[in-house]
Amino acid sequence: MDWGMKNRLYKIIRPKTGRSLMLAVDHGYFLGPTTGLEDWKKAVDPLIPYCDTLFATRGMVRACVDPRKNVPIMLRASGGTSIVGPELLHEGITISVEDVLRLNAVGIGYSILVGAPWERDTMLDFSKWVDDCERYGLIAMAVTAVGKDMAKDARYLSLACRMAAEHGAHIVKTYYCDGFEKVVESCPVPIVMAGGKKIPELEALTMAHNAISAGAVGVDMGRNIFQADDPVAMIQAVRGLIHKKMTPKEALQFYNEHKKASGPAKKSGIAADDTKKV
Ligand code: R5P
Repeated sequence: MDWGMKNRLYKIIRPKTGRSLMLAVDHGYFLGPTTGLEDWKKAVDPLIPYCDTLFATRGMVRACVDPRKNVPIMLRASGGTSIVGPELLHEGITISVEDVLRLNAVGIGYSILVGAPWERDTMLDFSKWVDDCERYGLIAMAVTAVGKDMAKDARYLSLACRMAAEHGAHIVKTYYCDGFEKVVESCPVPIVMAGGKKIPELEALTMAHNAISAGAVGVDMGRNIFQADDPVAMIQAVRGLIHKKMTPKEALQFYNEHKKASGPAKKSGIAADDTKKV
């Protein structure tokens, strides 16, 4: 791994803790204005100071992210299908490596649809992305998307994550499952956990904690943050869990103590300046 790629990887996985809080706000690429992200800029702007990396589409980055903001960007590089179309799982490449570089992103995320009818296409396209990323020192993250008919169990997710690593992924994003340590053990590259649909705060925090305890380097979480009653308090609670070794109960207590506050975090909380050090 050359200097540029290492430098980009350290922007995603903070060297001080070896962990990562990636904020997933790419959902509109197949869902449109999903709940919590109807006004993307208004929803995401207050969360940016608390994430290590933003996972978003190039369109929303260009239209809604102030280029003066010092936040590393991972770009959603697959898509083309929608929740209302006939073949949601038939994604293809949606951005060129030139545009990834033009946007000064640290890397891309690409969905590999293992077990779906189009798995071959997505694996081969992901492999092309690995070549492009290797050429320019970018990070290639494989997103192990799961179709409706596939079980999110350790057997399936181990298969998908291992395939991602074998095809050259630098990071793998996957879902939590029972026996998650088996998924991590058989995948030699860092894993970040996707959050999935909105669940109660303690459950989401416990799931993230369990994923990290099982060996994940962090999360790439979306709905459980931006659909929370107070997303700013929630992202700080997740941050406490990931970077400050809070237990799920401590993180929930933090959330409950801060959730009524709207706007910037209370000074007694995990301030943006403080969190940016890790
Ligand atoms: C993945 O394919 C999606 O586009 C999201 O990035 C991913 O699902 C993570 O977000 P959430 O925590 O809402 O599941």
